[in-house]
Amino acid sequence: MTDSRPDPVEVHLPDDHAARALAKDAREGLGATPKTLPPKWFYDARGSELFEQITRLPEYYPTRAERAILAARADEIAAVTGAHTLVELGSGSSEKTRLLLDALRGAGTLAHIVALDVSETALREAAAALTAEYPGVQVSGVVGDFTEHLGLLPGEPPRLVAFLGGTVGNFLPAERAEFLAAIREVLQPGEWLLLGTDLVKDPETLVRAYDDAAGVTAEFNRNVLHVLNRELGADFDPADFDHVARWDPDHEWIEMRLRARRALTATIPALGIDVSFAEGEEIRTEVSTKFRRERVATELAAAGFGLEGWWTDEEGRFALSLSRAE
Ligand code: SAH
Ligand code: TRP
Repeated sequence: MTDSRPDPVEVHLPDDHAARALAKDAREGLGATPKTLPPKWFYDARGSELFEQITRLPEYYPTRAERAILAARADEIAAVTGAHTLVELGSGSSEKTRLLLDALRGAGTLAHIVALDVSETALREAAAALTAEYPGVQVSGVVGDFTEHLGLLPGEPPRLVAFLGGTVGNFLPAERAEFLAAIREVLQPGEWLLLGTDLVKDPETLVRAYDDAAGVTAEFNRNVLHVLNRELGADFDPADFDHVARWDPDHEWIEMRLRARRALTATIPALGIDVSFAEGEEIRTEVSTKFRRERVATELAAAGFGLEGWWTDEEGRFALSLSRAE
Protein backbone atom coordinates (compact mmCIF):
# COMPACT_ATOMS: atom_id res chain seq x y z
CA MET A 1 0.00 0.00 0.00
CA THR A 2 1.35 3.45 -0.84
CA ASP A 3 0.82 6.38 1.43
CA SER A 4 1.16 9.93 0.17
CA ARG A 5 1.19 11.49 3.63
CA PRO A 6 4.45 13.15 4.69
CA ASP A 7 6.90 11.32 6.92
CA PRO A 8 5.49 11.77 10.45
CA VAL A 9 8.91 11.47 12.09
CA GLU A 10 11.11 14.46 12.87
CA VAL A 11 14.68 13.80 13.90
CA HIS A 12 15.97 16.20 16.52
CA LEU A 13 19.23 14.41 17.03
CA PRO A 14 22.07 15.31 14.68
CA ASP A 15 23.53 12.45 12.60
CA ASP A 16 26.62 12.37 14.75
CA HIS A 17 24.65 12.47 18.03
CA ALA A 18 25.41 8.87 18.83
CA ALA A 19 29.10 9.31 18.23
CA ARG A 20 29.46 12.70 19.98
CA ALA A 21 27.19 12.35 23.01
CA LEU A 22 28.22 8.74 23.52
CA ALA A 23 31.88 9.79 23.37
CA LYS A 24 31.28 12.30 26.15
CA ASP A 25 29.26 9.86 28.28
CA ALA A 26 31.78 7.06 27.75
CA ARG A 27 34.75 9.31 28.54
CA GLU A 28 33.15 10.54 31.77
CA GLY A 29 31.51 7.30 32.83
CA LEU A 30 34.33 4.87 32.11
CA GLY A 31 36.87 7.28 33.59
CA ALA A 32 34.95 7.46 36.89
CA THR A 33 35.22 5.22 39.93
CA PRO A 34 33.06 3.17 40.02
CA LYS A 35 32.55 3.02 36.24
CA THR A 36 29.08 3.93 34.90
CA LEU A 37 27.29 4.35 31.57
CA PRO A 38 23.90 6.07 31.06
CA PRO A 39 21.05 3.70 30.11
CA LYS A 40 19.87 5.42 26.92
CA TRP A 41 22.74 3.78 25.03
CA PHE A 42 21.08 0.36 25.32
CA TYR A 43 18.50 1.34 22.75
CA ASP A 44 19.91 0.97 19.27
CA ALA A 45 17.85 -1.14 16.84
CA ARG A 46 19.00 -4.40 18.45
CA GLY A 47 18.55 -3.03 21.99
CA SER A 48 14.98 -1.93 21.25
CA GLU A 49 14.24 -5.39 19.83
CA LEU A 50 15.75 -7.06 22.91
CA PHE A 51 13.64 -4.81 25.16
CA GLU A 52 10.51 -5.93 23.29
CA GLN A 53 11.56 -9.52 24.01
CA ILE A 54 12.04 -8.63 27.69
CA THR A 55 8.45 -7.37 27.86
CA ARG A 56 7.27 -10.86 26.89
CA LEU A 57 9.40 -12.80 29.39
CA PRO A 58 7.57 -14.73 32.12
CA GLU A 59 9.76 -13.05 34.78
CA TYR A 60 9.23 -9.48 33.54
CA TYR A 61 5.85 -8.65 35.09
CA PRO A 62 5.85 -4.80 34.78
CA THR A 63 4.58 -4.68 31.18
CA ARG A 64 1.70 -7.08 31.85
CA ALA A 65 0.80 -5.38 35.13
CA GLU A 66 0.76 -1.92 33.56
CA ARG A 67 -1.26 -3.20 30.60
CA ALA A 68 -3.85 -4.64 33.00
CA ILE A 69 -4.19 -1.28 34.77
CA LEU A 70 -4.55 0.55 31.47
CA ALA A 71 -7.17 -1.93 30.30
CA ALA A 72 -9.19 -1.33 33.49
CA ARG A 73 -8.75 2.47 33.69
CA ALA A 74 -8.28 3.88 30.20
CA ASP A 75 -11.92 4.95 29.86
CA GLU A 76 -11.80 6.75 33.19
CA ILE A 77 -8.53 8.47 32.25
CA ALA A 78 -10.01 9.57 28.92
CA ALA A 79 -13.13 10.93 30.61
CA VAL A 80 -11.24 12.83 33.33
CA THR A 81 -8.62 14.37 31.04
CA GLY A 82 -10.59 14.97 27.85
CA ALA A 83 -7.17 15.05 26.19
CA HIS A 84 -6.85 16.28 22.61
CA THR A 85 -3.18 15.34 22.41
CA LEU A 86 -1.51 12.27 23.82
CA VAL A 87 2.23 12.84 24.19
CA GLU A 88 4.19 9.68 24.94
CA LEU A 89 7.79 9.93 26.15
CA GLY A 90 10.15 6.97 25.71
CA SER A 91 7.37 5.45 23.64
CA GLY A 92 9.22 2.43 22.22
CA SER A 93 6.63 0.33 20.36
CA SER A 94 3.67 2.28 21.91
CA GLU A 95 2.02 -1.11 22.30
CA LYS A 96 0.17 -0.57 25.62
CA THR A 97 -0.56 3.03 24.61
CA ARG A 98 -3.19 1.74 22.17
CA LEU A 99 -5.47 1.13 25.17
CA LEU A 100 -5.36 4.84 26.02
CA LEU A 101 -5.63 5.93 22.41
CA ASP A 102 -8.69 3.74 21.86
CA ALA A 103 -10.34 5.20 24.96
CA LEU A 104 -9.58 8.80 23.89
CA ARG A 105 -10.83 8.08 20.39
CA GLY A 106 -13.96 6.50 21.84
CA ALA A 107 -14.53 9.61 23.97
CA GLY A 108 -14.22 11.67 20.80
CA THR A 109 -11.42 13.97 22.00
CA LEU A 110 -8.28 12.52 20.36
CA ALA A 111 -6.80 14.75 17.63
CA HIS A 112 -3.05 14.29 17.85
CA ILE A 113 -0.56 11.62 18.94
CA VAL A 114 3.02 12.70 19.67
CA ALA A 115 5.61 9.99 20.38
CA LEU A 116 9.17 10.80 21.44
CA ASP A 117 11.96 8.25 21.65
CA VAL A 118 15.74 8.20 21.30
CA SER A 119 15.47 4.99 19.25
CA GLU A 120 14.80 5.99 15.64
CA THR A 121 14.03 2.45 14.49
CA ALA A 122 11.47 1.82 17.24
CA LEU A 123 9.88 5.22 16.66
CA ARG A 124 9.59 4.87 12.88
CA GLU A 125 7.87 1.51 13.23
CA ALA A 126 5.50 2.80 15.90
CA ALA A 127 4.66 6.01 14.02
CA ALA A 128 3.89 4.11 10.82
CA ALA A 129 1.64 1.66 12.69
CA LEU A 130 -0.18 4.43 14.59
CA THR A 131 -0.73 6.42 11.37
CA ALA A 132 -2.40 3.38 9.80
CA GLU A 133 -4.44 2.48 12.90
CA TYR A 134 -5.75 5.95 13.77
CA PRO A 135 -6.98 7.51 10.54
CA GLY A 136 -7.96 11.14 10.96
CA VAL A 137 -5.62 11.56 13.93
CA GLN A 138 -2.37 13.47 13.38
CA VAL A 139 0.70 11.41 14.31
CA SER A 140 4.05 13.08 15.08
CA GLY A 141 7.15 11.08 15.89
CA VAL A 142 10.03 12.96 17.47
CA VAL A 143 13.44 11.30 17.60
CA GLY A 144 14.99 13.01 20.56
CA ASP A 145 16.17 12.84 24.14
CA PHE A 146 13.47 13.38 26.75
CA THR A 147 15.99 15.06 29.03
CA GLU A 148 16.67 17.74 26.37
CA HIS A 149 13.85 18.03 23.85
CA LEU A 150 10.61 18.45 25.78
CA GLY A 151 10.30 22.04 24.52
CA LEU A 152 9.93 20.80 20.93
CA LEU A 153 6.76 18.82 21.48
CA PRO A 154 3.84 19.88 19.28
CA GLY A 155 0.13 19.42 20.06
CA GLU A 156 -2.98 21.29 21.11
CA PRO A 157 -4.01 21.38 24.78
CA PRO A 158 -5.36 19.76 26.77
CA ARG A 159 -2.40 17.40 26.54
CA LEU A 160 -1.90 14.15 28.41
CA VAL A 161 1.77 13.25 28.78
CA ALA A 162 2.25 9.51 29.27
CA PHE A 163 5.51 8.15 30.64
CA LEU A 164 5.03 4.42 30.94
CA GLY A 165 7.01 1.27 31.56
CA GLY A 166 8.55 2.40 34.83
CA THR A 167 11.17 4.31 32.82
CA VAL A 168 10.99 7.18 35.35
CA GLY A 169 12.72 4.73 37.70
CA ASN A 170 15.78 4.71 35.46
CA PHE A 171 16.73 8.24 36.57
CA LEU A 172 18.80 8.91 39.65
CA PRO A 173 16.79 10.90 42.24
CA ALA A 174 18.18 14.36 41.39
CA GLU A 175 17.72 13.73 37.64
CA ARG A 176 14.18 12.55 38.30
CA ALA A 177 13.27 15.75 40.14
CA GLU A 178 14.73 17.79 37.27
CA PHE A 179 12.86 15.73 34.67
CA LEU A 180 9.46 15.99 36.41
CA ALA A 181 9.96 19.75 36.81
CA ALA A 182 10.86 20.03 33.10
CA ILE A 183 7.62 18.27 32.12
CA ARG A 184 5.65 20.60 34.39
CA GLU A 185 7.41 23.54 32.74
CA VAL A 186 6.13 22.69 29.24
CA LEU A 187 2.54 22.12 30.44
CA GLN A 188 -0.13 24.66 31.19
CA PRO A 189 -2.09 24.44 34.44
CA GLY A 190 -4.81 21.81 34.07
CA GLU A 191 -2.87 19.56 31.65
CA TRP A 192 -2.02 15.99 32.64
CA LEU A 193 0.75 13.52 33.43
CA LEU A 194 0.18 9.75 33.45
CA LEU A 195 3.13 8.05 35.10
CA GLY A 196 3.89 4.32 35.34
CA THR A 197 5.93 3.30 38.38
CA ASP A 198 7.00 -0.15 39.43
CA LEU A 199 6.44 -0.77 43.16
CA VAL A 200 8.64 -2.05 45.98
CA LYS A 201 8.11 -5.79 46.48
CA ASP A 202 10.02 -8.89 47.52
CA PRO A 203 13.60 -8.81 46.21
CA GLU A 204 13.39 -12.30 44.60
CA THR A 205 10.62 -11.23 42.25
CA LEU A 206 12.46 -8.01 41.45
CA VAL A 207 15.81 -9.63 40.76
CA ARG A 208 14.24 -12.31 38.56
CA ALA A 209 12.57 -9.59 36.45
CA TYR A 210 16.04 -8.21 35.68
CA ASP A 211 17.91 -11.53 35.44
CA ASP A 212 15.73 -13.90 33.45
CA ALA A 213 16.43 -17.60 32.95
CA ALA A 214 16.65 -17.29 29.15
CA GLY A 215 19.38 -14.65 29.42
CA VAL A 216 17.60 -11.99 27.34
CA THR A 217 18.21 -9.25 29.91
CA ALA A 218 21.89 -10.25 30.06
CA GLU A 219 22.09 -9.82 26.27
CA PHE A 220 20.29 -6.48 26.55
CA ASN A 221 22.76 -5.29 29.18
CA ARG A 222 25.79 -6.42 27.13
CA ASN A 223 24.34 -4.66 24.09
CA VAL A 224 25.80 -1.40 25.37
CA LEU A 225 29.26 -2.89 24.72
CA HIS A 226 28.28 -3.64 21.11
CA VAL A 227 27.19 0.01 20.83
CA LEU A 228 30.59 1.19 22.13
CA ASN A 229 32.35 -1.09 19.65
CA ARG A 230 30.30 0.09 16.68
CA GLU A 231 30.11 3.82 17.43
CA LEU A 232 33.53 4.40 18.97
CA GLY A 233 35.58 1.58 17.45
CA ALA A 234 36.10 -0.02 20.87
CA ASP A 235 37.26 -3.63 21.15
CA PHE A 236 35.16 -4.96 24.04
CA ASP A 237 34.42 -8.66 23.89
CA PRO A 238 30.93 -8.74 25.47
CA ALA A 239 31.57 -12.38 26.46
CA ASP A 240 34.18 -11.03 28.92
CA PHE A 241 31.36 -9.51 31.03
CA ASP A 242 28.78 -11.11 33.28
CA HIS A 243 25.34 -9.57 33.73
CA VAL A 244 24.59 -8.66 37.36
CA ALA A 245 21.22 -7.53 38.74
CA ARG A 246 21.19 -6.62 42.44
CA TRP A 247 18.54 -5.20 44.79
CA ASP A 248 19.78 -2.19 46.76
CA PRO A 249 17.48 -1.97 49.81
CA ASP A 250 18.76 1.46 50.87
CA HIS A 251 17.95 3.18 47.57
CA GLU A 252 15.09 0.78 46.78
CA TRP A 253 16.36 0.22 43.28
CA ILE A 254 17.57 -2.66 41.14
CA GLU A 255 21.06 -2.02 39.92
CA MET A 256 22.24 -3.50 36.64
CA ARG A 257 25.94 -4.03 36.21
CA LEU A 258 28.43 -5.62 33.82
CA ARG A 259 31.21 -7.43 35.68
CA ALA A 260 34.57 -8.19 34.07
CA ARG A 261 35.24 -11.93 34.23
CA ARG A 262 39.00 -11.34 34.07
CA ALA A 263 41.44 -8.45 34.22
CA LEU A 264 41.39 -6.78 30.82
CA THR A 265 42.07 -3.57 28.94
CA ALA A 266 39.76 -2.28 26.20
CA THR A 267 40.89 0.27 23.64
CA ILE A 268 38.50 3.04 22.58
CA PRO A 269 40.13 4.63 19.51
CA ALA A 270 37.55 7.42 19.06
CA LEU A 271 38.41 8.64 22.56
CA GLY A 272 42.12 7.89 22.30
CA ILE A 273 41.97 6.03 25.61
CA ASP A 274 42.43 2.57 27.07
CA VAL A 275 40.12 1.45 29.84
CA SER A 276 41.40 -1.15 32.28
CA PHE A 277 39.30 -3.48 34.40
CA ALA A 278 40.43 -5.55 37.37
CA GLU A 279 38.93 -9.05 37.52
CA GLY A 280 35.45 -8.62 38.98
CA GLU A 281 35.34 -4.86 38.37
CA GLU A 282 31.89 -3.63 37.36
CA ILE A 283 30.27 -0.96 35.19
CA ARG A 284 26.90 0.27 36.51
CA THR A 285 24.66 0.46 33.44
CA GLU A 286 21.27 1.19 34.96
CA VAL A 287 19.20 1.63 38.06
CA SER A 288 15.48 0.78 38.10
CA THR A 289 13.91 2.45 41.10
CA LYS A 290 10.89 0.88 42.76
CA PHE A 291 8.38 3.21 44.38
CA ARG A 292 5.88 3.55 47.18
CA ARG A 293 2.80 5.70 46.83
CA GLU A 294 3.98 8.42 49.27
CA ARG A 295 7.19 8.91 47.34
CA VAL A 296 5.42 9.29 44.01
CA ALA A 297 2.93 11.77 45.50
CA THR A 298 5.68 13.79 47.20
CA GLU A 299 7.88 13.96 44.12
CA LEU A 300 4.95 14.94 41.88
CA ALA A 301 3.92 17.66 44.34
CA ALA A 302 7.48 18.99 44.44
CA ALA A 303 7.37 19.30 40.64
CA GLY A 304 4.02 21.16 40.67
CA PHE A 305 1.59 18.32 40.02
CA GLY A 306 -1.43 17.31 42.10
CA LEU A 307 -2.18 13.58 42.28
CA GLU A 308 -5.71 12.89 41.05
CA GLY A 309 -5.65 9.15 40.47
CA TRP A 310 -3.63 6.17 41.74
CA TRP A 311 -4.31 2.69 40.46
CA THR A 312 -2.47 -0.61 40.85
CA ASP A 313 -2.91 -4.03 39.27
CA GLU A 314 -4.74 -6.62 41.36
CA GLU A 315 -1.53 -7.98 42.81
CA GLY A 316 -0.26 -4.51 43.74
CA ARG A 317 2.91 -4.88 41.72
CA PHE A 318 2.79 -1.74 39.57
CA ALA A 319 1.07 1.65 39.76
CA LEU A 320 -0.24 4.20 37.34
CA SER A 321 -0.73 7.70 38.66
CA LEU A 322 -2.63 10.51 37.00
CA SER A 323 -1.72 14.01 38.05
CA ARG A 324 -2.69 17.51 37.02
CA ALA A 325 -0.36 20.44 36.43
CA GLU A 326 -1.14 23.06 39.08
N1 SAH B 1 7.28 2.90 26.97
C1 SAH B 1 7.66 1.56 26.51
C2 SAH B 1 9.20 1.39 26.43
C3 SAH B 1 9.93 1.44 27.76
S1 SAH B 1 11.68 1.08 27.58
C4 SAH B 1 7.07 0.52 27.44
O1 SAH B 1 6.47 0.90 28.44
O2 SAH B 1 7.17 -0.67 27.15
C5 SAH B 1 12.35 2.72 27.65
C6 SAH B 1 12.16 3.50 26.35
O3 SAH B 1 12.69 4.82 26.57
C7 SAH B 1 12.91 2.92 25.16
O4 SAH B 1 12.07 2.92 24.02
C8 SAH B 1 14.11 3.86 24.97
O5 SAH B 1 14.52 3.95 23.62
C9 SAH B 1 13.57 5.17 25.49
N2 SAH B 1 14.58 6.06 26.07
C10 SAH B 1 15.52 5.75 27.00
N3 SAH B 1 16.24 6.85 27.33
C11 SAH B 1 15.73 7.87 26.58
C12 SAH B 1 16.04 9.26 26.47
N4 SAH B 1 17.02 9.81 27.20
N5 SAH B 1 15.28 10.02 25.63
C13 SAH B 1 14.29 9.46 24.89
N6 SAH B 1 13.96 8.15 24.94
C14 SAH B 1 14.67 7.37 25.78
N1 TRP C 1 12.32 0.88 32.10
C1 TRP C 1 12.63 -0.54 32.18
C2 TRP C 1 12.70 -0.96 33.64
O1 TRP C 1 13.33 -0.31 34.43
C3 TRP C 1 13.91 -0.82 31.44
C4 TRP C 1 14.48 -2.19 31.60
C5 TRP C 1 13.83 -3.36 31.72
C6 TRP C 1 15.83 -2.53 31.67
N2 TRP C 1 14.70 -4.40 31.83
C7 TRP C 1 15.92 -3.92 31.79
C8 TRP C 1 16.98 -1.83 31.62
C9 TRP C 1 17.13 -4.58 31.89
C10 TRP C 1 18.20 -2.48 31.72
C11 TRP C 1 18.28 -3.85 31.85
O2 TRP C 1 12.09 -1.95 34.00
